[in-house]
Amino acid sequence: MANIFTRAATGVMDWVNARAPALAPMYRKHMSEYYAPKNFNIWYIFGVLSLVVLVNQIVTGIFLTMHFKTSAAEAFASVEYIMRDVEWGWLIRYMHSTGASLFFIVVYLHMFRGLMYGSYQKPRELVWILGMLIYLVLMAEAFMGYVLPWGQMSFWGAKVIISLFGAIPVIGNGLTEWIMGDYLPSDATLNRFFALHVIALPLVLLLLVVLHLGALHEVGSNNPDGVEIKKGPKGNRWSPTAPADGVPFHPYYTVKDTFYVCLMLLVAAFIIFFAPAFGGWFLEHDNFTEANRLVTPEHIKPVWYYTPFYAMLRVVPDKLGGVLVMFGAIAILFAVPWLDRSRAKSYRYRGVLSWALLLGFAFSFVWLGKIGAGPGTDPVETIVGRFLTAYYFLFFLTMPIWTKIDKTKPVPERVTTHD
Ligand code: HEM
Repeated sequence: MANIFTRAATGVMDWVNARAPALAPMYRKHMSEYYAPKNFNIWYIFGVLSLVVLVNQIVTGIFLTMHFKTSAAEAFASVEYIMRDVEWGWLIRYMHSTGASLFFIVVYLHMFRGLMYGSYQKPRELVWILGMLIYLVLMAEAFMGYVLPWGQMSFWGAKVIISLFGAIPVIGNGLTEWIMGDYLPSDATLNRFFALHVIALPLVLLLLVVLHLGALHEVGSNNPDGVEIKKGPKGNRWSPTAPADGVPFHPYYTVKDTFYVCLMLLVAAFIIFFAPAFGGWFLEHDNFTEANRLVTPEHIKPVWYYTPFYAMLRVVPDKLGGVLVMFGAIAILFAVPWLDRSRAKSYRYRGVLSWALLLGFAFSFVWLGKIGAGPGTDPVETIVGRFLTAYYFLFFLTMPIWTKIDKTKPVPERVTTHD
């Protein structure tokens, strides 16, 4: 029986090969003959997990689109309809809304891994830049998606965020009106956000992800030791010319990644079934009320993944200054490959100073997130927020200095393993 299947599969593969001979080499380059360092640890799963969440968002998004009504008059009710009357509609919707938060959780961990192991350093600057572009598009994608259910937070969040463009001198007001298509978020805003959220930005995102992986596979993966396996000795049991410290991505890492994908799906299932709003962090309570332009919610705040940047916006007293600081905080991340001057790529071989500053950075980012999620009325918190914002910027601006003066440990010639 197995023989019949093998012969049928070989037959199909031969048939495809004869017609598209470029496919098999592509598969080999990116899967069976992509030699990934053998010392990957758990931090290396988040790229694949991001891919899985991306697919989840696209598939569940397609099903949501089948029942969603794109108009300010009907959007909220159509989401209620999906939740109550469409077969399994609640599951599809919660998979999509939980997926949005999971996306940012895995992407933030993926980025932090990059920072920890110096994955942005030469020759992977382009991988990092493409990653940053993905991050920007992802933020725009999530923002527009949040406006679609037309709840109170959709409306007021859109109002606050789009109005930020009003801070730009001369063209600000015109630009705000142009983005909204009205003087307030309205039917026109909802329609254009729908078009961008459902087709334009996902296409850009997909293209960027393909380029991100293409750029990575040209230079090969970094690893927790920050040692280039391509520069090391050659020859392993699969190929005499492949890096000795590399293993074929398929089946070695496909199997390992599958385990972690299952684990993530298990966690996601718990959230979807038992706490889909996640205490107001994944779906804000105010968004269960329909948008009303005459009633402002008590605290207008974005979803958790924007709150560190929102905190920076709020703690700066001047509106234009706040906007510049907020966008500057994202823009500065693009420059990291050129700010880091350390001889050791990975933090494994860096000194206490680097570690202390990096942990301080992670801590300040999380704390800013907490401040941004609060009402913003506590003056002490505002002062703390200013210090944390200053720390955030100083961490990057002084990076060329502290990465140079920090004492590094000797970096091994080859990757290390614990077996
Ligand atoms: C949709 C979002 C994203 C997807 C699907 C994605 C996917 C991946 C995958 C599959 C890998 C290889 C496996 C791994 O190293 O984990 C990878 C590597 C990498 N990604 Fe991403 N990524 C995304 C966003 C980002 C972002 C936002 C950044 C940073 C700004 C980034 C920076 C990197 C870097 C530097 C590497 C190379 C890591 C190394 O070799 O050490 N990625 N990405």
